[in-house]
Order: sequence, then C-alpha cells, then structure tokens
Amino acid sequence: MTSFPHLLAPGRIGATTVRNRVVMSPMETMYSTGDGLPSERTRDYFAARARGGVGLITLGATGIDHRHPETPGGLHLGTDGAVDAHRALVDVVHEHGAKIQPQLVHAGPDGLGPEIFGVESLGPSVIPSYLTGRPSSEISRRQLCEIFDLYKAAVRRAAEAGYDGIELHAAHGYMLLCSFLAPQRDRRTDGYRGDSPRGRVRVVLEALAAIRSEVGDALPITLRISGYERIAGGRPIYETARMATELVAAGGDAFHVSGGVIDRLVTGMVNAADDGDELNVGAAAAVKQVVDVPVIAVGRIHDPARAERILADGRADFVAMGRPLLADPELPDKLQADSRIGSVGASLAKTVSTQWNSVSRSTARSTPAPARSANSPRPEPTAPSASSW
Ligand SMILES: Cc1cc2nc3c(=O)[nH]c(=O)nc-3n(C[C@H](O)[C@H](O)[C@H](O)COP(=O)(O)O)c2cc1C
Repeated sequence: MTSFPHLLAPGRIGATTVRNRVVMSPMETMYSTGDGLPSERTRDYFAARARGGVGLITLGATGIDHRHPETPGGLHLGTDGAVDAHRALVDVVHEHGAKIQPQLVHAGPDGLGPEIFGVESLGPSVIPSYLTGRPSSEISRRQLCEIFDLYKAAVRRAAEAGYDGIELHAAHGYMLLCSFLAPQRDRRTDGYRGDSPRGRVRVVLEALAAIRSEVGDALPITLRISGYERIAGGRPIYETARMATELVAAGGDAFHVSGGVIDRLVTGMVNAADDGDELNVGAAAAVKQVVDVPVIAVGRIHDPARAERILADGRADFVAMGRPLLADPELPDKLQADSRIGSVGASLAKTVSTQWNSVSRSTARSTPAPARSANSPRPEPTAPSASSW
C-alpha cells in the first residue's frame, strides 16, 4: 500500500491521461543549441526525469518567435525547422511513459530581441524590461494580431512534434500576456485598458480563441497564471477567480496557479524558504472552487507528504514541482517504492532551493550552501502540518 495514493493516481488534462499527479514545473535550462533548439543535453535531462516517473513534464519558456528570446539561446517553436528537434525530445520522453508539453511564450517587453536580433520589444505600454531596464514600445492592434498568428503557428508545430498539450504562460506579470494582466504594467486606455479587469484579460481570451481556431480540441491548453501578484496594486485573487470561468469558456483545459510577479533576481517567482511552503495553494484552491477543470498547484511544495495532503484535501488536482525534480529526477519513482525515501527528494530540493536563492539574491558573490554528503544523517520525513491550510 503506497503512502501517496492521491499523488500516484492517474489523472486527466483535457483528453490527455497522465500516469500520476506529479507535474514538472517549467524551468528554463539553457541547455538548448545556440539557435534555440532542444539539444542532446536537453533530451538527456528530460529523459532522466521521464525515466524517474514524473507524470507530465512542462518545458521551460519556449518562444513563439525565435527573434524574441527571453534568454540567450532560449528554446523556441518559432520556425518550421524547429519541429524535428522537438519531435526527438518528445519521443525520448514518451519512451519512458511521461507526457510533455512546451510552455509557450512571447517575451514581449522582457525579451532579448533588441540586444540579439535588433528588433523592437513590444509591451502593453512603454514599460522597462524587468531584466535589462530597456523600455518596450506600446504594441498596436495590428501587431497584436500578428502575434496571435505566431501563437497559432507555434501550436501547430507543437502538435506536429507530438507534444501532449501546451502551457500558455500568463503568470508572473512579465512577458507579453501577463504584462497585460498586470495592472501596474498595462497602462492602456483602449479596449485592453489596464484599469479594468475586462480590459486586462482580453488579450488572453483572444490568444486562446486564436489557438483554438488553429488546433481545435487536439491539444489541451493549460493556463499558467499568478493567483495573485503579491505586490501593492497587483492583481488580487478574487479577480483571478472571476477571470478563471471566462478563461475556461474561451478554451482553457487546466490552470497552473503560481503567484507573484517577477523581479530582476526572480525571488518573486522562485520563492525562498522565508516566503514559506505551499504559498500558492490557497490561490489554487480558490480557482478550483469556481472551475470544473483540473488545477495544478505549485510553489515550494517540496515535501511529498505535503503534496499528498494537498490533493487529499481537494485543494488541487495536480502538484507541480520545480526544484525538487531538478534535485532528484527519480523522486516520483521513489514514492512508489518507499514513503521515507521521498524525504531524500525534499532534502535535496531544500539544498538546491537554498543555492538558487542565495545565488539569485547576492549574485556572483554568494557562496552556495554545502551539498548534503551521502553519509550525513537523513532528516525524518516532515509530517504535514495541520496549520498548513
Ligand atoms: C531554474 C529555474 C527556471 C525557471 N524557469 C521558469 C520558466 O521558464 N517559466 C516559468 O513559468 N517558471 C519558471 N520557473 C519557476 C518554476 O516553474 C516554479 O514555479 C518555481 O520554481 C516554484 O516551484 P518550486 O518551489 O517547486 O521550485 C523557474 C524556476 C527555476 C528554479
């Protein structure tokens, strides 16, 4: 009898069956070829996680336009020539029984297009890139329509490559779609106006409609959103919950509820221990109350016992893990084998998490936390806290 009956139960997103409820959260690896295609290293990295038993892998930010990368060499599905390399990645993941989907993005105001390709960066308004500080131009209606066409083409290529779905990235108040959703970034006064919930969500509804017009129901669409933005003046959870029903009606098949907005050191998106565990689960539960599609919770759910409790309590349908699966590709399989072993993943994740946050907080001057040696004592599994909800 497993100690993780909910976590290890098969689930569905749209018409796609997933072998368990563990989702690998999108994390850019920068392992791609210089021109933004999955490389041998990309394939090995994801094959290891698929072999380790994860249910659904989400690729990190994957551009719909190769001229607007978020990172140098960032993955893209922006050209027909990209399909073969993506198909090779999908095939190795499928060989090990996992499902896989790309997280589709247009980097909008936050890409490196101007620096690398000499193109103009576009945002809802003239706003500084979170990364470089360079201001974007305000996107016109015509340019928005061109970007919807790019979404359509990228989703068609995702289907050709054999992906099991797509994740539409609209979280963290950055890149194109979520900059429109963020009141502090959308200062327009037209139909996409930033001072009204209806104006802010319009671009996501139109992107969904465009995608659905291209692929019909062939690929499930997961929407990644911030439950709430955790900054003064940011979008509150009640607005996200209201939007959620409209987003389902427009074609969303699942929600992946993250939180916060990005900042230069990404501490608002990749939270450190002092932000607390399970910090987006309340928002995921609020979305789950108003929709009848699956909801994925994410954010410092590093202890499998906590993940199991979240599902058992009905606060989410899937749990996404980022750093735990960076640290331990075999974490899901270890849950099958032995509940205690799950704590290894949790403790490894804590180490990676500490390293990640110390690097991002103090840039190159920080000293990474020492890795746990193989002989050091293993901590006892953490019991789910009664006060966690
Ligand atoms: C190295 C790294 C890269 C990330 N890249 C992305 C990304 O491309 N898109 C995204 O939405 N989130 C990205 N994230 C955020 C993760 O998907 C996740 O939401 C976050 O790490 C919290 O989950 P965790 O506590 O399980 O790690 C990244 C996180 C890390 C650590």
